[in-house]
Amino acid sequence: FMASTHSDLITIYMMNPDGSQAPLEVPVNINLSLMEVLRAGGYPIPGTCGGIALCATCAVDILSGNEKLSPAGDQELDMLDLLPQSTAATRLGCQIRLRPEMDGMIIRIISES
Ligand code: FES
Repeated sequence: FMASTHSDLITIYMMNPDGSQAPLEVPVNINLSLMEVLRAGGYPIPGTCGGIALCATCAVDILSGNEKLSPAGDQELDMLDLLPQSTAATRLGCQIRLRPEMDGMIIRIISES
């Protein structure tokens, strides 16, 4: 049995600072985190801690599709508490595993400034 490669891709949309949106096709079948696919896509996500919810350099705002994500765990919530720019829409990209139902999600990278 061979799964179709095409159906294993979803599109998420990156909100640019000027308000435009850039589509990014990402695979959902290889257990990658949102942090990992954004880095692979060339976005400025340091991911300094390697994805264990200790650096918050992977923080993103989920502008649409928040209801499709699993709730943040305790370690993630602790890190978000330390992040001045954090809002109710903010998540750590490394703690989000990409799943098919996230197709069409709109996100914005939180700047380091
Ligand atoms: Fe460090 Fe996500 S990569 S908290």
